[in-house]
Parts: sequence; C-alpha cells; structure tokens
Amino acid sequence: MTTTIRKLAEMKRAGEKIPMVTAYDYTAARIADAAGIPIILVGDSLGMVVLGYDSTIPVTMDDMLRHARMVSRGASDALVVVDLPFMAYQVDASEAMRNAGRLMQEGGAHTVKLEGGVAIADTVRRIVDAGVPVMGHIGLTPQSVNALGGYRVQGRTRAAARRVLDDALALQNAGAYSVVLECVPSPLARLITQRLAIPTIGIGAGPDCDGQVQVFHDMLGLFADFVPRHARRYASLAGDIGAAFRRYADDVRSGAFPTAAESFTMNESLLADLRDE
Ligand code: KIV
Repeated sequence: MTTTIRKLAEMKRAGEKIPMVTAYDYTAARIADAAGIPIILVGDSLGMVVLGYDSTIPVTMDDMLRHARMVSRGASDALVVVDLPFMAYQVDASEAMRNAGRLMQEGGAHTVKLEGGVAIADTVRRIVDAGVPVMGHIGLTPQSVNALGGYRVQGRTRAAARRVLDDALALQNAGAYSVVLECVPSPLARLITQRLAIPTIGIGAGPDCDGQVQVFHDMLGLFADFVPRHARRYASLAGDIGAAFRRYADDVRSGAFPTAAESFTMNESLLADLRDE
C-alpha cells in the first residue's frame, strides 16, 4: 500500500484531486491498481452489480469478506476500503468493532466504510479508537433506501441540507478520515468540502469534492441498459464483450477456432500403439 490516510489528507491540503473506483475481484483490482488509482473500494454495491440483488440490503459479511480478499490480493499500491454491509454495524458498537476487525484481519481491508452520520458517530468513534480507519458515507445512503423512499438526491431543502452538514461534521469529530457524499446538490457538497479538514469523495455531488468515486460497472459500461445520471462511461465493455462472444461462437461453429497455433502437438508415432490396441 503506498496510499495512506495521511497521504489523502496531504492531497486535500495540496488541492490534489483523489480518484477512487470500486472493484470486486482480483483482476479488476490489479488493473485499477496498475492504472494508479489511489483508492479501491470494495463496495457493497457488489450486491447489485455482481450478485444480482435489487439493492445492497441482502449483502452479508461473508459476501464482503470473500470479495475483499480477492481485491486485497490484487492491489499492491492502492488503499483498499471495504464496506461494512447492512446490519453489520447498526446493532451495537461491539458488533461493529468485531465486524470492522474481521474485514481487516480476514479480508485484508486497510480501512472500512459505513453509512450514516450523527446516528452512528459514537460507533465510528469506537471503531477508530480500536485502530481501524473509517471512511463515512452520507447523503444518499443506499442501505437505507427503504427509509429514504427510493434512490433520491438528499439535502435539497434547508433542513435537509443542515442534516447532511451535521452528519459530515459528526463523522469528522468522531475521527473519520474521509467521507463519501452521495447524491447531494453540488453547492452543498462544496460547502461541506470547505468546512471539513478531511477529504470528501463525491458521487453525484458535483466537481468541488476533494475526490470522486465511480462504480466499476457504471464507468466501464458493463450494464448496457442503465447509466445513472452521476456516472460517466469511459468504455462500453458490455457491447465489446457481447461482440467478442458472438465472434467466438461464430468461429467455433464454423471450425475457424481453434487453429494449429492454438493447439498442442505430440509425436504421432506414439499413438500407433493406442490405435492398434
Ligand atoms: O457500494 C458502493 O459502491 C459505494 C459507492 C457508491 C460509494 O458505496
């Protein structure tokens, strides 16, 4: 790991933007790491983009641990942040600490991320005091999608904006080293970013956050049908992969694959005995 939480604080002070992406397996982590992405998030979004659930709520500690291990084996320079899944930290602080510790000991996480602000600040403090760096996540918190009434922009009224700001300050006071702002209006994200000493990482929070995070499948176009408004497509892999599969299937059907160059030889005379058996 060459990216540390101290380095992230320096990047904020220097005005150097922080790119972060999600990854869910060894190969993806190796590619992101080699591309110089300083933070890789093993997001519980894996529940939707890898496991096929319609929300992140069914994701378990076992799911997170399995994918955290894959990613931590693939990342040598990046800071690996792993999400605590729904109900892994809300019941009580002791359970939250135990689960945060498991993500580090068994999953290879360098730090953990959890959703919520004022309501979980005491838990964040306990986890941080135990030696586990915590990234917060406020604004649209997908684990609370049912309580929020859908995937909606948060902080649009004065009272709601005040709540998001209070959440951010509570996390900083509790010792979080960074906070994700998801789907909050850009002017509010700017204000929070100016108010906080710790870096903000935006997703759907405008250009003024200290960093940005994108979901692997969204930015690489792995879903052909749906692109969230806050995502930018840097590749169209679903189309490319589909076309590759079609070409491969055509080659198998026509006999164009494999050729001698893709096959292995042996001395034909060695087969004589077998033939004569
Ligand atoms: O799970 C995830 O991918 C996330 C990002 C959207 C920040 O929490």
